Amino acid sequence: MADSAPVKARGLEGVVALDTELSYINGQEGELLYRGYDIKDLAQNASFEEVAYLLWHGDLPTQSQLDELNAQLRAERALPDAVVDHLRHHTPKDANAMSALRTATSMLADFDADTESHDHDANVRNAIRLTAKMPTIVAAFDRIRKGLEPVAPTGEGSTAYDFLYCLNGEAPGEAAEAIMDAALVLHAEHGLNASTFTCRVIGSTLSDMYSAVTGAIGALKGPLHGGANVKVMETLKDIKQSGKTPAAYVQEKLEAKERLMGFGHRVYKTYDPRAIILRDMLEGLSDEKGDRWWYETSKTMMDEVYDAKGLYANVDFFSASVYHLLGIESDLYTPIFAISRVTGWTAHLLEQWDGNRLIRPRAEYVGPRGKTVGPIAER
Ligand code: COA
Repeated sequence: MADSAPVKARGLEGVVALDTELSYINGQEGELLYRGYDIKDLAQNASFEEVAYLLWHGDLPTQSQLDELNAQLRAERALPDAVVDHLRHHTPKDANAMSALRTATSMLADFDADTESHDHDANVRNAIRLTAKMPTIVAAFDRIRKGLEPVAPTGEGSTAYDFLYCLNGEAPGEAAEAIMDAALVLHAEHGLNASTFTCRVIGSTLSDMYSAVTGAIGALKGPLHGGANVKVMETLKDIKQSGKTPAAYVQEKLEAKERLMGFGHRVYKTYDPRAIILRDMLEGLSDEKGDRWWYETSKTMMDEVYDAKGLYANVDFFSASVYHLLGIESDLYTPIFAISRVTGWTAHLLEQWDGNRLIRPRAEYVGPRGKTVGPIAER
């Protein structure tokens, strides 16, 4: 077969690799839809579990469909003993939280009878198990590293409730549960971002869902992707401790040609709609907690970065302060992103497998040719 003319784009910018019905992003207008529903509508009026159902099945659930999904998630939240033992005895206390999540998630594959099945229903069951268990892993890791006993899920709460309950060992307040639930909705799905692409590439080889999600966690960990929210908190703490104004801090970083984490986006060329929703959530939470410093500083910094560089805040910028005010350790921010995005990843895998074709682009060879192997002593 003759080679077709190669299309090259650095970082695959602007390349459309596949069709999806999962989400629509209008980067010029700052619009994000999950299966046709506006993210603002979903964040206000749908729970994380309703969004998971929407992504996996194509539309929002009826009450009985939602009840059934909640029952399945609740029944699947507990971890296999071997995974808890691994976190307790074999995961270093100072392990990177995303590495700990990645390894424990990978282990789950060996305890799921459906792992090697490629039947659609089995894949949905895998998606439910991953979504149920990943929050329990994150909470157990955090407690064990602090010398505390992991707390068993209640078997009654929502994903947001049980995650906060397992993390803190006490019932979260209604406001904290609602904020966590909305944050999970906002992070659930976002087109062919780096971790979702990773997930679909792995899935396209007809490997299993656990392998694909494990790879996706690895991609999300990077500071240019989900790891940015951890760096945002480092930035804000740096400003607080140094006493610098946000303007001086921004100027200093830009002069040093450093990136400002939580700003810029490959697709959005205006405000990321999720950032705006999180900014408003942060303002409400700040008033409730009587601590407006994080909100005011973030807002000022957002304006400074726009004025200085024309960059807009992205989803990671305000989520960091929201989690901080909820009392969550900063290195758990990216794992929280993962416990939400697993719904998008697994929905993409279901879509990929419904019409699979191996994803296999090409690289243009730019090295030398015609070299010959000489004796090793002469190299
Ligand atoms: N801080 C400072 N400058 C930035 C920047 C940031 N956060 N994001 C982009 N830029 C600048 C680059 O330096 C470059 O400037 P130049 O043309 O003068 O060299 C220009 O904008 C284009 O950057 P590029 O890296 O090519 O854009 P991209 O589409 O590849 O990058 C991101 C997208 C998200 C990786 C990038 O904006 C970034 O690194 N942001 C910080 C990390 C982050 O918040 N990630 C979470 C994304 S949701």
